[in-house]
Amino acid sequence: MAEEYKDFRKEQDYEIDTLTNDRLIKDHVYDGIRELDNDLPPWWKWLFYVTLVFGVIYLIRLYGFQAPDLIQDVEYANEMKQAEQENPTKNTEIKYERLTDAASLAEGKKLFATHCAVCHGPDGGGLIGPNFTDDYWIHGNTVEAIFGVVSNGVLEKGMTPFKDVISPKQRLQVISYVLSLHGTTPAKPKDPQGDKLDWPY
Ligand code: HEC
Repeated sequence: MAEEYKDFRKEQDYEIDTLTNDRLIKDHVYDGIRELDNDLPPWWKWLFYVTLVFGVIYLIRLYGFQAPDLIQDVEYANEMKQAEQENPTKNTEIKYERLTDAASLAEGKKLFATHCAVCHGPDGGGLIGPNFTDDYWIHGNTVEAIFGVVSNGVLEKGMTPFKDVISPKQRLQVISYVLSLHGTTPAKPKDPQGDKLDWPY
């Protein structure tokens, strides 16, 4: 019967239960069970409208304006930029090159006397730590390799990490000074340790 499918809400749409005064959906009975004709609570409806508005604004911002806070890659790049500005030394790339200017070497010499001489000898001849004047190296003799050793240390062998003690620039200065000691004759040279390596400088 076509009548059963008519949209009953369009006409006189509800009945009142004579016993409880509840609003019932009209002409809607299954196995003697009636269904209440409740409205959705206003807070629920408003919440729904708000999500719609939110969704539309989100779509427009994302696809229309390509908002930087909605696109992860852009957000990431911006955060990295900000971090770099707040903390310039951490993210600047280091150029692993031996410094040769007199000012850097003088600075390096001072740093060596303060931080390294106790273990490597005042002239770099070696004490607890290895001799820097010979051709033998345990961890390699490139600026990059030495920078790694000085930054991170070799804790189990007693070499201190310096990354939180002196800046990257200072590490490069002291390393350049260390390299300048190669081939000099220390007062009491320590026996060679490590492998004999070509001298790249
Ligand atoms: C507390 C003692 C100590 C101090 C301070 C110290 N070193 Fe060392 N250093 C060592 C020891 C011990 C080793 C040997 C590590 C190993 O056997 O792997 C070493 C190794 C090294 C090496 C690697 C040598 C190689 O043959 O590969 C370099 C480079 C070095 N130190 C540089 C420095 C510099 C530069 C400083 C100062 C900024 C410094 N060290 C301060 C004890 C020290």
